[in-house]
Amino acid sequence: MKILIKKKNATMTSPCLIFFTPEGQTSPQLLAQLDEHLGKLVTTAQRNNEFRGRHAETLLLHGPDTRGPGRILLVGIGKASDASVDKLRQAASSAVVVLKQKKISKAALSLSDLPIQKTTAEQQAQAIVEGILLANYQYQRYQSPTPDTAKPLEQIVLLAANAKSLPLLQRGAARAEAICAGVHLARDLVNAPGNLKSPEFLAMQAVAMAEKNGIKAHLLDQVRLQQLGCGALLGVAQGSTRPPYLIVLEYAGDPKGSAPLALVGKGVTFDTGGISLKPADKMDEMKMDMGGAATVIGTMLTAARLELPINLIAVVPAVENMPSGNAIRPGDILTSLSGKTIEVLNTDAEGRLILADALTYVARYKPRVVIDLATLTGACIIALGNQAAAVLGNDDKLIDKLLKAGQRSGERLWQLPLWEEYASQIKSDFADVKNTGGRPAGTITAAAFLQKFADQYNWAHLDIAGMAWEDKGKAGIPRGGSGFGVRLLIDYLQHETGAA
Ligand code: BES
Ligand code: MN
Ligand code: ZN
Repeated sequence: MKILIKKKNATMTSPCLIFFTPEGQTSPQLLAQLDEHLGKLVTTAQRNNEFRGRHAETLLLHGPDTRGPGRILLVGIGKASDASVDKLRQAASSAVVVLKQKKISKAALSLSDLPIQKTTAEQQAQAIVEGILLANYQYQRYQSPTPDTAKPLEQIVLLAANAKSLPLLQRGAARAEAICAGVHLARDLVNAPGNLKSPEFLAMQAVAMAEKNGIKAHLLDQVRLQQLGCGALLGVAQGSTRPPYLIVLEYAGDPKGSAPLALVGKGVTFDTGGISLKPADKMDEMKMDMGGAATVIGTMLTAARLELPINLIAVVPAVENMPSGNAIRPGDILTSLSGKTIEVLNTDAEGRLILADALTYVARYKPRVVIDLATLTGACIIALGNQAAAVLGNDDKLIDKLLKAGQRSGERLWQLPLWEEYASQIKSDFADVKNTGGRPAGTITAAAFLQKFADQYNWAHLDIAGMAWEDKGKAGIPRGGSGFGVRLLIDYLQHETGAA
């Protein structure tokens, strides 16, 4: 999709002109002028309470003649006192949802008189373009179009409030495009069906992305993983006929060679539960169990596109969790890369097993910080629903930074405690640790398990089980993979580098 930026009066003849309209306040000046021309259509709609400007409310009007824009789309941005870039992003998404439904493929959006304080034109443009691109995403690879299929927008023109903001708007839009490329890649990976999405497929996608973007990639295959002693990862993989990979990406953006930041993403390409088989209902969604991996790979793409001045490592353990004659059994004991032994009480708690080895492996990079993302526990959905990911870890400063990035990006996090007492729930009678801690505090005991393998660096864990998959579809996130975490991580990384 094309995003163009032009001066205010460039496109009064657009097929559709979009206005962000505040609640309980006078309309933007340009809209007021148009209203005269439209025979007070807008005023009439407002007077009849058909449009109040409430956040994300929309109203599509048709112009009376060919001298002005063909249509006008009003999009509420709510009360000026509640305005934020996040609200602006969501409003832009709502506009696109309407345009897609009505199959309007070209539109222009007026940026004059936005009632948003304390943000730069660049930040506003970034938020709006993000909102547009995120909502315009569609995964149509395996579906033939029907008359009902929504049609993605082809072009949108942002109409600058003044000439001096043009370069700022360009920069904000370019940043949004780089970010959304990462989000869209993550969504594509999550939406790919399990039959196609083997660990090898995931590895090849990561390598292809890396090659195109100046990122180094290498793959550790089954033989190499055996040599290293990644018994936990290999244990999960052994039930599947598809071999595992440990995917490693290295982005070198800091020529001074500072210690890298590292991202680790759970890459279970399909989670049946293994011998501890999951119920059939909704098992199809378990193709999203590589959501953490997808976000990490998408974030690497965006970091490279933005040329962030940092060194960044991504480690993705990729496996498929299947039941078979070769699969691990409850009661089995695995020896992890760290040397610690793990009693597997439930083969459905496989994410923490593969992460254990990935977290041990990443220590060789002597990272400044390690952040792992994983669709790790159903308990996290019970705790937080689909409104926030859980964050836990051994470094409160890092967690605070991530919480702030979550607020800014609208990809929210909520901290859960990781008091040492929780570790008593994962003590094993037969090995160093066991892979389940029972029902109480399931998200926390999963993190307590990971903590045993993340003891060499500053570490935070994001449980994105409730966030990686959007079940119904909402403005900005069509049904399916959400790409949650890319915007959050990029916001965090930009603040880390002082680039934001
Ligand atoms: N991938 C699941 C967690 C999950 C559930 C993610 C629902 C997204 C939606 C994970 O591997 C799992 O099965 N966890 C178990 C752990 C339990 C056996 C200790 C769970 O949460 O039930
Ligand atoms: Mn599982
Ligand atoms: Zn899983």
